[in-house]
Amino acid sequence: MRQQLEQIKATALAEIAAAADAAALEAVRVRVLGKKGELTAVLKQMGKLSAEERPVMGQIANSVRAELEATLEARKADLNAAALEKQLQEEAIDVTIPGKKVEMGHQHPMNKVLQEVKEIFIGMGYQIVDGPEVEEAAYNFTRLNIEEGHPSRDRSDTFYFNDDDSVLLRTQTSSVQIRVMENMKPPIRVLAPGRVFRKDEADATHSPMFHQIEGLVVDEGITMADLKGALETLIKRLYSEDAVCRFRPHHFPFTEPSCEVDMQCFKCGGKGEIDGQVCSTCHGEGWIELLGAGMVHPEVLEGCGIDSKKYSGFAFGIGLERMAMGRLRFNDLRLIFENDVRFLSQF
Ligand code: PHE
Repeated sequence: MRQQLEQIKATALAEIAAAADAAALEAVRVRVLGKKGELTAVLKQMGKLSAEERPVMGQIANSVRAELEATLEARKADLNAAALEKQLQEEAIDVTIPGKKVEMGHQHPMNKVLQEVKEIFIGMGYQIVDGPEVEEAAYNFTRLNIEEGHPSRDRSDTFYFNDDDSVLLRTQTSSVQIRVMENMKPPIRVLAPGRVFRKDEADATHSPMFHQIEGLVVDEGITMADLKGALETLIKRLYSEDAVCRFRPHHFPFTEPSCEVDMQCFKCGGKGEIDGQVCSTCHGEGWIELLGAGMVHPEVLEGCGIDSKKYSGFAFGIGLERMAMGRLRFNDLRLIFENDVRFLSQF
């Protein structure tokens, strides 16, 4: 029996030493020390022993059990420590590796230019105002001296909502002039940026939706010189001190006199050609049209309850996309609306 116990102990110790993980250890424990284990089976034979032998064998059996239990515990602790060490190594994080760069978004280029324009006019004391995109024909046309039958009211140019053509998507921000003059008393100095809509096919310089920035100033003694001063300030601040612009006579029903303002082409420097080729940005003109403007027509003032003998004013309407193309130097309007990140991320 003593031999049997020594044998069990030797085998178990060897197995414990060889066990690769906790499961293998548990298998050894159950097989040797479990209720139906080898050691228990040996102890059951104790009854066959003599009274002298019994306590001796009992002591040996207990010490074998104690030793095996202690060895199992120790081995288990070793295996756990090794497993933890392995896991730590596998999951090690090198905090010195450079991180992945997060792409930051930024303002749309046209918004940036709008912001610059707004800041220039706010600096000159203008207030930013807003008007509805769904507008009455009265504000978009009639009260701006654009009578029924005028070609710009044509259904082929304007998005109307109803059969009597009384409600529409505004074709110009000039409608805001009337809304402002109805609600404010002079002195008036406002800037009204917003979307406008016309039935245009999209090409390099046209889009059915585009942006205008309307300006309106009404006060005593306002003249064309004030208009020129304000617009020249805008162009020089936005482009550069030596940007060249020209004022050209024009006609708008709601301003008198009226003009259009062009900027010298930034691409060809006003020559209209580059290396003998017609400049693709200004189409050989040497100038790029930026805005329409003029002195507010006395009838428009009177129609809003403003005494045209006491007050005068000027108004202008800037094409924001054109202005952004010149400011950021790209030559196809569609790029602004396509929102291709390869384009947008350049600004
Ligand atoms: N509303 C005009 C247009 O869309 C521009 C303009 C605005 C002209 C203000 C004169 C005064 O063409």
